[in-house]
Amino acid sequence: MASSWVTITHAAVAMALLLMQFGFPARSKPVSTDPNNCLNLMPELKCCPDRNPKKIVDFKLQPQSSPLRVRRPAHALDTEEAQKYERATALMRALPDNHPWNFVQQANTHCAYCSGSHRQLGLNISFEIHGSWHFFTWHRAYLYFYERILGKLINDTTFALPFWNWDDPSGMSIPPIYRDNSSSLSNPTRYLIGLKFIDLGGCEGNNTVESLPMQRQCNLQVMHRQFIAGFNSSSLFYGSPYRAGDNSFPGGGAIESSPHSSVHRFTSSDMSIVTRAARDPIFFAHHANIDRLWAIWESIPGNGSKVFNDKDFLEASFLFWDENMQLVRIMVRDVIDTRKLGYVYEQVPLPWMNLKTVVEEVGSEDVTVAMGEDDSRKGEVKFPLVLSSQVSVHVGRKVGAKGEKLVVSDIELDGRDHVWFKVYVGRVGGGRVEAGCFIHMERRANERINMATKLQIGITQFIEEIGADGDDWVVVTLVPTVGRNKVTVGGVSIV
Ligand code: C2O
Repeated sequence: MASSWVTITHAAVAMALLLMQFGFPARSKPVSTDPNNCLNLMPELKCCPDRNPKKIVDFKLQPQSSPLRVRRPAHALDTEEAQKYERATALMRALPDNHPWNFVQQANTHCAYCSGSHRQLGLNISFEIHGSWHFFTWHRAYLYFYERILGKLINDTTFALPFWNWDDPSGMSIPPIYRDNSSSLSNPTRYLIGLKFIDLGGCEGNNTVESLPMQRQCNLQVMHRQFIAGFNSSSLFYGSPYRAGDNSFPGGGAIESSPHSSVHRFTSSDMSIVTRAARDPIFFAHHANIDRLWAIWESIPGNGSKVFNDKDFLEASFLFWDENMQLVRIMVRDVIDTRKLGYVYEQVPLPWMNLKTVVEEVGSEDVTVAMGEDDSRKGEVKFPLVLSSQVSVHVGRKVGAKGEKLVVSDIELDGRDHVWFKVYVGRVGGGRVEAGCFIHMERRANERINMATKLQIGITQFIEEIGADGDDWVVVTLVPTVGRNKVTVGGVSIV
């Protein structure tokens, strides 16, 4: 009796010591913007807000009295709609430089949240809104206020931002309203190539009459892959959790690398550098389409719930100047439903919904296989690996596993660099499919931005399509296309 009591006490003490050493599971908290701490870290842009607020008000949803704003495809606006938008933007540009509604101040609002300028409340670490589950949420809130400010400037409570419908062949180039160099909506330094075609992710071609239909079809495939095939759960769709105190870029979701970053890059000029991107008015149409894709995702039954039960997601908050010239703190829980925010998207066809993935046949000479850790046939290539050229790895999997995810872990780079690599999943000795890609956009900052992130892709559908359901191994191939040698990969696994 006595000895077992001693044993129990010992066990309890050991457990207590263990907990003291490793800490109790820390109570996590949502991220929140510090209104009094913003650092101008940029060589050329000062992104921090010019005006310090005397008071911050909590955001309240407006009563649903006015009619819903209807966001329409930018290429389909009629003359009156286009003129309204043009006029509102011109008025915004004409405001005094330090007015919170001024066009450049508005653009800086984006910059401050993607350059390490804004800080997390009370923590003095950067608040970055890309590369995590707040990618969709922050940009929705941003557009919400931007749209209402424009409406206020022209005295129109139904004014709605247009969306750049690049997921439909009719919208796969720079929409006409953004092309006229005398317009407030233009950015004369964009490459002309975007007038013909905008690449959603590896569909570049020579943009001739003969090649354009194929390029457009390729874009639709990218949409299908990024929206349907590779991201079959809300956590994959949104990206990784980002809580108070976390490092930036825990891992972006489905749409962020492609088509999002790809469209930025191919629009060129300001749009291709995150910290400058919102200086091109087309930014807002681009992000309206991203936002629309999120709304479509939410409307699919069964989606969303997993993420939404997380308080650190729902209670995260951001600061924006609203259309009444107040600095407002808005919580993520208020931006989940666009109708509650007073707007909807015009319904247009989704030609990418029901496509079939293209399986490429690969000749064995195309594949240089580097063996994975626990592959008995050990090869020359070891992780961590600097991606300098295409590399293939045998990766083990469990036959019959449900919801398989491919994880490319410990992706390290200087966050200022533009980096793009593609990820293929193939059957050993058989065909392969492009399963996804990693795209990081250029940023401007004085110092190296140490970045460590991961890419996760749902591969259940791809495994079926290459016929590898019964296989213990698949071949994963990483193909660097931009920024060779500038990115290190820590490992590739299937979980
Ligand atoms: Cu905040 Cu499209 O980037």
